[in-house]
Amino acid sequence: MDKLLLIDDEADVQYSFRRIFDSPEIELSTANSGEEGLKLIPKVKPDLVLMDVRMGGITGLETLRRLRETDAKLPVIMMTAYGTTQTAIEAMKLGAYDYLLKPFDVPKLKQIVFAALKAARDMKQVVSYEPLLEMEDYDLGIIGRSEQMQQVFKLIGQLSTSNATALITGESGTGKELVARAIYHHSQRADKAFLAINCAAIPENLLESELFGHEKGAFTGAASQRVGKFEQCNNGTIFLDEIGDMTLATQTKILRVLQNGTFERVGGNSAIKVDVRVIAATNKPLEEAVAKKEFREDLFYRLNVVRVAIPPLRERPGDIRLLVNYFLKKIARSQNQQPKSISNDALAALEQHSWPGNVRELENIMQRALVVAKGEAILSSDLPREFFAHPQPSPAITLPQSIAAAEAPASVPTEQDLPALARALFQWARQEPKLKVIPAVERELIIHALIETKGNQVQAAKLLGITRATLRKRVEKFGIKQELAVK
Ligand SMILES: Nc1ncnc2c1ncn2[C@@H]1O[C@H](COP(=O)(O)OP(=O)(O)OP(=O)(O)O)[C@@H](O)[C@H]1O
Ligand SMILES: [Mg+2]
Repeated sequence: MDKLLLIDDEADVQYSFRRIFDSPEIELSTANSGEEGLKLIPKVKPDLVLMDVRMGGITGLETLRRLRETDAKLPVIMMTAYGTTQTAIEAMKLGAYDYLLKPFDVPKLKQIVFAALKAARDMKQVVSYEPLLEMEDYDLGIIGRSEQMQQVFKLIGQLSTSNATALITGESGTGKELVARAIYHHSQRADKAFLAINCAAIPENLLESELFGHEKGAFTGAASQRVGKFEQCNNGTIFLDEIGDMTLATQTKILRVLQNGTFERVGGNSAIKVDVRVIAATNKPLEEAVAKKEFREDLFYRLNVVRVAIPPLRERPGDIRLLVNYFLKKIARSQNQQPKSISNDALAALEQHSWPGNVRELENIMQRALVVAKGEAILSSDLPREFFAHPQPSPAITLPQSIAAAEAPASVPTEQDLPALARALFQWARQEPKLKVIPAVERELIIHALIETKGNQVQAAKLLGITRATLRKRVEKFGIKQELAVK
């Protein structure tokens, strides 16, 4: 559960926050003044603070300044009805996470709050890579005893004592983000901010302003000034994920920040200086992009100072057994259950698989297996069909790996892709006359939604666009395990 603290002296605002964030996942506390807020923070230990700028007693900015003396990381969103650029800049300089104008646009407020909560979680998840620690000591560990992973651990250790830029490479799902967070957690900047930006997920034309901010009127839609991630993250660490997906113009700006720590906001002309450590990651071979002139060669060399190359899972099959045990325990713990065991033939099948989706695929397979397993152990029949050499006639509906196990395609499909997706499913149905394709797909979608919502049927039904009653009927009909389904 995420904890929000609202510091605002207006009863109306407190009331609307209670309504907007009325959810079992959020616990909202309120304070009527900056002084009260500062007293409450050590008691409530909020994950995120939302604070008014103008209040009776000390101002919001002063409260933020005092808070920063003891806590450099707690994300704070400042809010005001009297927006002046100056206050906004002042707030961001003091290390506010974001700045919002009243009255709120509710969807935008929610979007910013959830993004800030995610950033807070990223900062908190302590990543340990000591390979000999007991399971209980791991918060979110990086598992691996193979020679190649030991090499990765050593590099993380070496990087922790410097401020060097690091480039993490590896196929999708190999743990690049996990390694980035481990570098941050072991670095001297561990008590400062960490912001992760997925360059591929942000539309090209918006990425530059997301990273560097923009001045009012810099482009259509830039109604007010915006402070970018580099400024927000001053003194901290920024993780640029999928760095290969960046326009040449943005690459040029990144290069300049790396070289002399300065940049300009989009549409601005005064240079801003920051001290930010950059960790970048990519799953595309940047050398090829350089050869095609899609990626700046000088930036590539600047990033490539220390390269952490994470090997694909199929090149370290010895780690599979460890990872399986780790995920069995981790998933059980998150569901407050006793860990299940796994049969030898199921483990052997997992060890022989080629793992195109790497560790993420393995984690998904384990989650799925735990949902469908009926007894105390996971059997090979609980794995998707491709995992056994000789397909067994299975009473359960099994799906091709593309749906059951694989990570979603690089880009999330849109409505336009639906005919193509349907065609693929239809061809599969035609090939396997015994298959009941509609219930099979329904079952798989429900399993995914229940995993995603940790078994919350109301949310799962909403995600799938069906009623809760329908969902419940399907859960029974398809024999999807009760403990995941009922909440
Ligand atoms: N060595 C490992 N030990 C434990 N968990 C791991 C390990 N490697 C990856 N994972 C888990 O696998 C999942 C994918 O990892 P992560 O998101 O870091 O991969 P990635 O390389 O960034 O993938 P992508 O290129 O798709 O973004 C995460 O849930 C992560 O916790
Ligand atoms: Mg990633």
